Amino acid sequence: MRRKMVAGNWKMHGSLAANKVLLDALVAAPAPVCDVVVCVPGPYLAQAQGLLAGTAINLGAQDCSAHEQGPYTGEVSANMLRDFACGHVIVGHSERRASFCEDDSTVAIKAQRALDAGMTPIVCVGETLEQREHGQTEAVVGTQLDAVFMLLGQRIHQIVLAYEPVWAIGTGRTASPMQAQQVHAFIRQRAIRHHSNAVGIRLLYGGSVKPDNAAELFAQPDIDGGLIGGASLKAADFLAVVDAARFSA
Ligand code: 13P
Repeated sequence: MRRKMVAGNWKMHGSLAANKVLLDALVAAPAPVCDVVVCVPGPYLAQAQGLLAGTAINLGAQDCSAHEQGPYTGEVSANMLRDFACGHVIVGHSERRASFCEDDSTVAIKAQRALDAGMTPIVCVGETLEQREHGQTEAVVGTQLDAVFMLLGQRIHQIVLAYEPVWAIGTGRTASPMQAQQVHAFIRQRAIRHHSNAVGIRLLYGGSVKPDNAAELFAQPDIDGGLIGGASLKAADFLAVVDAARFSA
């Protein structure tokens, strides 16, 4: 049985004061029913590392460089993240693909760097509304996946994949549980076809997950949890989404 995971992606939100209030509330809550990760902005890694030390909540980052080290001003390497006890790092988020021109091969290299540094990459894939309306969802997601699978080879069972339809991110328009399940089943089959050891790979759904829709999404057979944006910024909402992970397939 795959253990559920709920990861919060704070994106470019937070402050020292606000982070402390949020993390203190998460830490004070009863032990979570699933794996919980919070992916904070880079400058707050040290603060979050301190507040989360010895708790059941894991620290994550939102991106890492495709380079190992060197003259890349502004970049942060996977090994640097590891220094702050980051166990997870999001790579290939659609906002980075769209706003920072990250292509499939860059995303694959980032996933490889994360694994090499001893972290679990949370690799995001997903189609735009236009692509969905043109019936291209599987072609687009399949191409995004294949770039990662080809580079990682038999290590793909070590990653977490997040299906985040671009049209559902921050729009309040979530994929229906059936729409999400359909793509998750496709992703799992694609991963298994690449390597049989991917049968237990964890697949998160992301895109307007809220306390009132999380349970139904997480109850789908191929949805192993969520990657949460807006609702991860309020302790009560995030804890309610985490709690919805008790509704297992
Ligand atoms: P929202 O939950 O705000 O739609 O964001 C989803 C997301 O992009 C998580 O990575």
